[in-house]
Amino acid sequence: MSRSPCPLVVDRAAAHSPIGVYDSGVGGLSVWREIRAQLPSEDTIYVADQAHIPYGPRPPEEIRRYAVAIAALLIELHVKVIVVACNTASGAALQTLRATFPGVPFVGMEPAVKPAAEQTKSGVVGVIATPTTFEGEPFRRLADRFGQDVSIHTRTCPGLVELIEAGSVGTTETRSLLRDCLDPLLALGIDELVLGCTHYPFARDLIAGIVGPDVAIIDPAPAVARQVRRVLASGGLLSSASEPGEHRFLTSGPPTRLVGMVQQLIGVAAHAEGAIWQEGRLRIG
Ligand code: DGL
Repeated sequence: MSRSPCPLVVDRAAAHSPIGVYDSGVGGLSVWREIRAQLPSEDTIYVADQAHIPYGPRPPEEIRRYAVAIAALLIELHVKVIVVACNTASGAALQTLRATFPGVPFVGMEPAVKPAAEQTKSGVVGVIATPTTFEGEPFRRLADRFGQDVSIHTRTCPGLVELIEAGSVGTTETRSLLRDCLDPLLALGIDELVLGCTHYPFARDLIAGIVGPDVAIIDPAPAVARQVRRVLASGGLLSSASEPGEHRFLTSGPPTRLVGMVQQLIGVAAHAEGAIWQEGRLRIG
């Protein structure tokens, strides 16, 4: 893996630089909205790699290639921190990203097994995420560490990411897919359910209706936003602006689709720009 081609660009990051956030699609918006809520004066640049969604079934090497190219684009745009708002990409690529761009702070995600293991009373915890997340080293480490004291049961929800991307959150198809995914976990007696994919919080109401009030649902997005604040504060990179931040949305899919989904999922009227994959690099179109 080659080293960062642009350390000088990283050095130019300053408190007024934007926060970079990326995901395979709209899932990272569940993290973005928390960052905006906790750090309202920060500018952001959100990249949705919708040309390649879903990441979940893709081999880790492929996800790493995309991650390096997306990070390179964000660095060219002078971001001061990159939030990998995707459990799948974090599991597959965070180590590579840190090694490739050593001057850049990265904040990644992992399924929130720790709080679930600490809070469970039944001793049975459920985690839903993509296959690549479960196969990755970070999740295996978590399962080894906390699986001694509590039972950790995992389920993938094939098709759920695609339905959320298609704006079909409230449909009977999504409901029945979620029932198939969650019923076996409920039968095992879970009282904590970890949302291990950033798309899933957008189906939270539906999930809550299925698991009922006795199962706590854990979405790590607020904790990730707090971590972004800590990282910025420790580098003296928190914005001192008093007005609300400005936000840029880029997608390798159709921009109109992203605009519609940003409005539908988080109620933000966004303008989206197209980004194009060319010879393994991502460029603004
Ligand atoms: N949102 C991503 C995650 O947190 C993955 C969705 C996908 O499969 O692309 O894992």
